[in-house]
Amino acid sequence: MTRPFVWSLAALSLCVALRPSPAPGQQSDAKALYQRLCVACHGPIGGGDGPVAAALKPKPASFTDPQFQAARTDEQLATAIKGGKPPMPPFGQQLSAAEVKALVAYIRQLGSKPR
Ligand code: HEC
Repeated sequence: MTRPFVWSLAALSLCVALRPSPAPGQQSDAKALYQRLCVACHGPIGGGDGPVAAALKPKPASFTDPQFQAARTDEQLATAIKGGKPPMPPFGQQLSAAEVKALVAYIRQLGSKPR
């Protein structure tokens, strides 16, 4: 195994182990899902700069980039979440359609926040 791969595994398992439990009523389900499943690669505010991102090729897109947001339909985002986009794994098995939809909305929200 190459070192970056080992590190990304280590970082991933660390993130899973340290997963924050959402405070009731404070965080939306989508945010909690994002923190649990996506943040390791996509970063806390979707900048594409999570701890695992450095080891990935290509790097995760930045959800805060207006060009990224403009270039994708909700449908395309949902398809990527369900089916994956290497090196991103597919999440279609573990997420319901409603959860995927909520994550798409959350990604849009990340894109609309000023940095
Ligand atoms: C193992 C790291 C990793 C994880 C975990 C991950 N992603 Fe990604 N994601 C990526 C990478 C890398 C790309 C860019 C792939 C490319 O451009 O080919 C990407 C791309 C995307 C895209 C853009 C697809 C497009 O149209 O270009 C969306 C949307 C996305 N991820 C959502 C999510 C969501 C939501 C989660 C959590 C449920 C998640 N990702 C978890 C690595 C990850």
